Amino acid sequence: MPSKKKRRIERPTIHPRNRYSENVPDFRVLASLYPSFEPYVYYTRGGWPKIDWTDYNATRELTRVLLDHDHNVKWWIPDGQLCPAVPNRSNYIHWIEDLLSSEIVPKFDSCDDNMRGFDIGTGANCIYPLLGASLLGWRFVGSDVTDIAIEWARKNVDCNPHLLDLIEIRRVGDGSELENSVDNTVRNSEETFFSQNTDQSRVDEKTYASLPVLLGIVRDNEKFDFCMCNPPFFETIEEAGLNPETSFGGTHEEMVCPGGERAFITKIIEDSVELKQSFRWYTSMVGRKVNLKFLVSKLRDAGVSIVKTTEFVQGQTSRWGLAWSFAMPKVKIMASHLPEKSHQSFTLEGLPRQLGAVEVLKSVELLFLSAGASCKTNLFAFTVDITASKENCDMFLKDDAEVSGREDRTLCELSREQLPASDELCFRVSVFEQIPGTLLVKGSLLHKQSPLSGLFSSVFYKLEEGLRKKFPGKIVVQSNTWK
Ligand SMILES: C[S@@+](CC[C@H](N)C(=O)[O-])C[C@H]1O[C@@H](n2cnc3c(N)ncnc32)[C@H](O)[C@@H]1O
Repeated sequence: MPSKKKRRIERPTIHPRNRYSENVPDFRVLASLYPSFEPYVYYTRGGWPKIDWTDYNATRELTRVLLDHDHNVKWWIPDGQLCPAVPNRSNYIHWIEDLLSSEIVPKFDSCDDNMRGFDIGTGANCIYPLLGASLLGWRFVGSDVTDIAIEWARKNVDCNPHLLDLIEIRRVGDGSELENSVDNTVRNSEETFFSQNTDQSRVDEKTYASLPVLLGIVRDNEKFDFCMCNPPFFETIEEAGLNPETSFGGTHEEMVCPGGERAFITKIIEDSVELKQSFRWYTSMVGRKVNLKFLVSKLRDAGVSIVKTTEFVQGQTSRWGLAWSFAMPKVKIMASHLPEKSHQSFTLEGLPRQLGAVEVLKSVELLFLSAGASCKTNLFAFTVDITASKENCDMFLKDDAEVSGREDRTLCELSREQLPASDELCFRVSVFEQIPGTLLVKGSLLHKQSPLSGLFSSVFYKLEEGLRKKFPGKIVVQSNTWK
C-alpha cells in the first residue's frame, strides 16, 4: 500500500549565493546602526524585531540600509517610486551569473572577462545595475523612458563614485513621446504614489507601445553578455491592484503597459530576433506562469537555439526567469581517426519521434540547393553528396541563408549529378537515427585536395545552425530551481 502521507513539495527559495540565504537581515542590529531606521522597528511580545511591511516609508528605509550596510551602495528614491526588495532582486542577478558561467553559450571572442549587461527599464531605483556592479563588478547600461527614472537612476549612480565607471544610464527616445502623453503628476512626488493615482489615461497607449526596448537603444556594433528586465507586469491599474500585506509603491508607468508583460516581453523577443548575436543571453522576469508558457512558444517560433527558465519564490509570490539565446550551444565533435576537419558531426535531439532521417536529408538537400550547389541523394544509404562552388559556399554562409520555402519540390526534381571540378567543395552528409527523436548528422570531406576544403568546417557549422533552426524540437528548455 502506498503511504498516505502527503509528500511535501520542495519549493525553490533563495539562491544559494544570495547573501541573505543563510543570514536574514537582523533588524535589531540595523536599528542600532541606523537611527533613521530605528523608528520603523517594533518588537513582538517574544522580543522579535519586525517592521510594518504595509508602510512604504519602512520598506524604503529598509532597502536603503541594506544597500548601505551590505553592499556599500548609497541610494534613495522619491515617494511612490517602485521600491525594490534587495534579497529578491539579488536572486535574478545570481541566476544570470549562473547562465554566464555555464558553458552553454560561449563567451565573446575578446580578452575582456568583465561582463556587460543591459537593464531594460532600470527605474528610478536602478537596482539591477547597482547590485550587479557592486556584487560582481559587472558593467551596465540601464535604460528607461520617464524623466523621473532617468533623473534618479543617474543620481543613484552619481552618489556611488566607485560604481560611476561601471554604469551608464541611457534614455529611450527623447522623452517627448511620454512628455506629451504623461500627465506631469509623474514629477510630483506627492501624487505619484501608486495607490493614490488610478487614472489610466495618463499614458497614451499607442505612444507607450511604440517605444523601443532594445532596437535603436543598443548602438551599432555594441555587444552585451546579457540583458535583463523587470517589465511592467500589468495591463491595467485594477489588475495591478495592491498587495494589502506589503507596500513597495510603484507608479503607473512602472507597473502598467498596454498588453501587460506579454506585450512588453514580446517586444524584447522581436528585438532580439533583429539583434541576435549582439547579446549572449536575453533574459526577462515574468510575473505569471501562463505568460511564461506563451512566451516560450513565441521563442520557439522565433528560432532561438536555447531557452532556460527558473522560478523565483519571493515571500508568498512566485516570479519566473526566462532566458534565451541565438548562440549555437556548444556541441561535442565526435572523435575521428581521420585528420581533423575531414569529418564533423552533431546530434539533433528532442525531435518528434516520427521525424526521421529522410526529412532531415531532404532539408539538408534543400539548404544546399537554395545556395545553388548540386546534391546527389541516396535514400537507401541516407546520404547526400554535395558539390559546391566558391559562390555557392559564399551564398550558403550568408547570414540570412535559411531553409527555403521550396519544400514542395521533390528530391528527384532537384537532384542532379555532376562531376566535381577540382576547385569545388565536395562532401557527404549522412544522417543516422540513433533512437527515435535523436539523429546523428555526419559530414565527410570527399576531395581533401580541393582548395575549397578549408571551408568545410564553416559550411558544416552553418548546416548545423540551419537544421537546428528548422527543427524546433532541438530546443533545450531547461528549468532549474534551488532548494
Ligand atoms: C517594473 S519597473 C522596473 C524598475 C526596476 N528595474 C525594478 O526592478 O525595480 C519597469 C520600468 O520599465 C520602464 N519602461 C517602460 N517602457 C520602457 C521602454 N520601452 N524602455 C525602457 N524602459 C521602459 C518604466 O518606466 C519602469 O521604470
